[in-house]
Amino acid sequence: MIYLTKPYFDKDEINAVKETFDSGWVAGQGPKGKELSEYIKNITNTKFAIPVNNCTAGLHLSLLAIGIKPSDEVLVSDYTFPATGHSVMFCGAKPRFVDVNLKTYNIEPNLIEEKINNKTKAIIVVHQFGQMADMDKILKISEKNNLRVIEDAACAMGATYKGKPAGSFGDITVFSFHARKNATSGEGGIVVTNSEEYATIIKSLSCFGIESAFTRQNTLNIPSFKRLGYNYKLSDINAAIVLQQLKKYPKLLQKRRSLVNLYNKLLGNNEFITLPIEHKNNYHVYQTYAILLDKKIDRNKLVLSLRAEGIQTQIGTYASYIQPVYKSDDKCASSLFLFDHSLALPLYYQLRKKEVEFVVEKLNCHIKKQMRGS
Ligand SMILES: Cc1ncc(COP(=O)(O)O)c(C=O)c1O
Repeated sequence: MIYLTKPYFDKDEINAVKETFDSGWVAGQGPKGKELSEYIKNITNTKFAIPVNNCTAGLHLSLLAIGIKPSDEVLVSDYTFPATGHSVMFCGAKPRFVDVNLKTYNIEPNLIEEKINNKTKAIIVVHQFGQMADMDKILKISEKNNLRVIEDAACAMGATYKGKPAGSFGDITVFSFHARKNATSGEGGIVVTNSEEYATIIKSLSCFGIESAFTRQNTLNIPSFKRLGYNYKLSDINAAIVLQQLKKYPKLLQKRRSLVNLYNKLLGNNEFITLPIEHKNNYHVYQTYAILLDKKIDRNKLVLSLRAEGIQTQIGTYASYIQPVYKSDDKCASSLFLFDHSLALPLYYQLRKKEVEFVVEKLNCHIKKQMRGS
């Protein structure tokens, strides 16, 4: 089977886990968590980095930190994994879904302002599949309308826009270390911000709302619980693993990008496929390589045909506004089109050139079969 994705671990991660076992600190907020925070602050050019147990938890805490309340509305890029919309619902607030651009799969800036009203407090921008959204336009609109900006950079560790890294634009940014992300610890995430106020609230809320857990002194310091916080901490075992992943990240990324070039070259002549593009302002980290199929192709049938050949493919991601949980009145036609017609192809560090060639051969073959009606 050629899988859609496969994490890459070697002796570095095994040694790092052993180190945490030997140290005796395997819970959250230990030395590895602190090392991870320092590393991430450096590469994202931010002042504060708080490890959390996943990106969804980080988005939830970010919204609470900026003060989202049940009567508020938060704009959300529609074409995303539903974690983004869910985080708004966790606060009792209403997600308002904004349609995306068919070429970049990211929020369409021209459609943002029509969704803003006096309840709108923030916007969650998703850097879909590892390519950053059009931040210049988004920041201009958010400044004009006094909206806080949260970057959902679940897929975008290492991505840049006009040379600046994901995480250095929004009021708060959240990354994911889930197994399908380019740098993974199985599950995990981290929140970054330049605001001390937001960082203090997020740290406290990630650890039961405790007040003094981060300021232990020589005196016996019995903490108090000031806020109704959560247990969203990242264990030091996970932090140790992801630190090793980040250290080998340039090597992992280089391979991903060379496989993407190969796919682009081999698929470029197929008239029924639109390739993903890397916008000129962006450095794309290709967490997912998602092509767009002509509407004459039955995408779901194609997934099953490829599965029978031993190739795992998947839908790109979801149209949020149609998910029953949101009971949304929004309409996002481009997002729906992408939901119905995008196809994610296998992409991971260990994938070999001849496997890419096999995937392309079978993909072309089954598209042809569908077009012949057989
Ligand atoms: C855009 C986006 N946001 C948020 C998430 C949630 O990440 P996590 O699984 O770390 O909670 C995902 C996961 O796939 C995602 O793709």
